[in-house]
Amino acid sequence: MDRNLLITGAAGYIGGSILADFITRTTGPFSRANISAAVRSEAQVESLANLGINVVLVDLSDEASVTEVVLRNEIDIVLHTASSHDPNVASYLIKALGQRRKATGNETFFVHTSGSTAFAPEAGWPSGEMKDTDPIFETEKQLAANHPIRLTDIQVIEEGKTQGVTTLIVVAPAVYGRGTGQCKNMSIAFPIFIRSSIKDKLVHQFDKNGNPAAVHISDMTALYGLLVEKILQEEAIPNGEKGYYFAVAHKVYCWDLMQGFAERLHLLGLVAEPKTRTWPSDEMAAESLGVPPFIARVMGTHSTELVPVNAYEVGWRPHWNEKMLLESLGQEIQDVLEVDNIKVAS
Ligand SMILES: NC(=O)c1ccc[n+]([C@@H]2O[C@H](COP(=O)([O-])OP(=O)(O)OC[C@H]3O[C@@H](n4cnc5c(N)ncnc54)[C@H](OP(=O)(O)O)[C@@H]3O)[C@@H](O)[C@H]2O)c1
Repeated sequence: MDRNLLITGAAGYIGGSILADFITRTTGPFSRANISAAVRSEAQVESLANLGINVVLVDLSDEASVTEVVLRNEIDIVLHTASSHDPNVASYLIKALGQRRKATGNETFFVHTSGSTAFAPEAGWPSGEMKDTDPIFETEKQLAANHPIRLTDIQVIEEGKTQGVTTLIVVAPAVYGRGTGQCKNMSIAFPIFIRSSIKDKLVHQFDKNGNPAAVHISDMTALYGLLVEKILQEEAIPNGEKGYYFAVAHKVYCWDLMQGFAERLHLLGLVAEPKTRTWPSDEMAAESLGVPPFIARVMGTHSTELVPVNAYEVGWRPHWNEKMLLESLGQEIQDVLEVDNIKVAS
């Protein structure tokens, strides 16, 4: 049976890279998938126009437009990468998939992109190792209060149950590497530290060493590819309350990252010293990074102990590791220089 697949956030870093990967898959299970891409500006529609897929212009925060797009394009599967933290947008998409399921009698699927910062002790998550097969949903419910990512995950699972839509939640850690989409090819995860270092002409780190989880964008898109393959082949995979997929390839120490940036930025003449300094206060870090102090501290000091089991069960074998990431920091810097049009004296 042919299935119609919609990727939201298709002009973004993760969504654009998934789209670029999926359009190369013309054989096997993907030959049964018709791909649509959701974007929110005319310029983005134009950028994707030559890909030979259906591009839809939609503001996902408008429920009527979302319903119309899903029903008119007969969408059976949504890969949602436009927002990890807006429960309403997720809810509109799932309700529309529920209508589509009722109209056709066929199973519909919602694959959500969540974020691992919600699963760090620094953000109130219990410390200690946790597998994606552990009771994550129950823990998210106990701890939900005012955490937009957790509230959205809960909404996804509960709305999915109400609407009879099968839901999966991919938990993205810090994603790095050059994206392959048509529009935005840089993550926010590490470039935010590179930009603040160039602005301050110094590389700063926090007084506590974080050890967050990470994944290269190519490994991230490979996981989405595997999940969609399973859906297209009608294979039963963990879903709903048990359908969490930690996209954790490895971890990385924040101080190693910052030291790597300091050495490379110094060689380029963009910072004054080849070593790091400690932020004098969270407020100064926040001002330089352009986020609230609490977020700045979580970004720079959080550690996660998330163990991917479900992802490996579906066959995921990430290629990138911590060593490869640390060796590729020069490329992360080059990407920022290119996007921000910063010239370096040779
Ligand atoms: N990158 C990471 O390391 C990482 C890690 C964990 C979680 N996440 C989360 O995963 C999601 C995707 O990340 P990303 O790095 O791919 O972000 P991104 O590059 O900003 O992509 C998001 C895309 O969604 C579009 N979008 C947002 N709201 C929309 C709306 N109401 N209607 C239509 N389109 C909308 C954006 O449009 P515009 O281009 O017009 O803004 C953008 O193209 C984000 O929620 C992010 O917080 C990312």
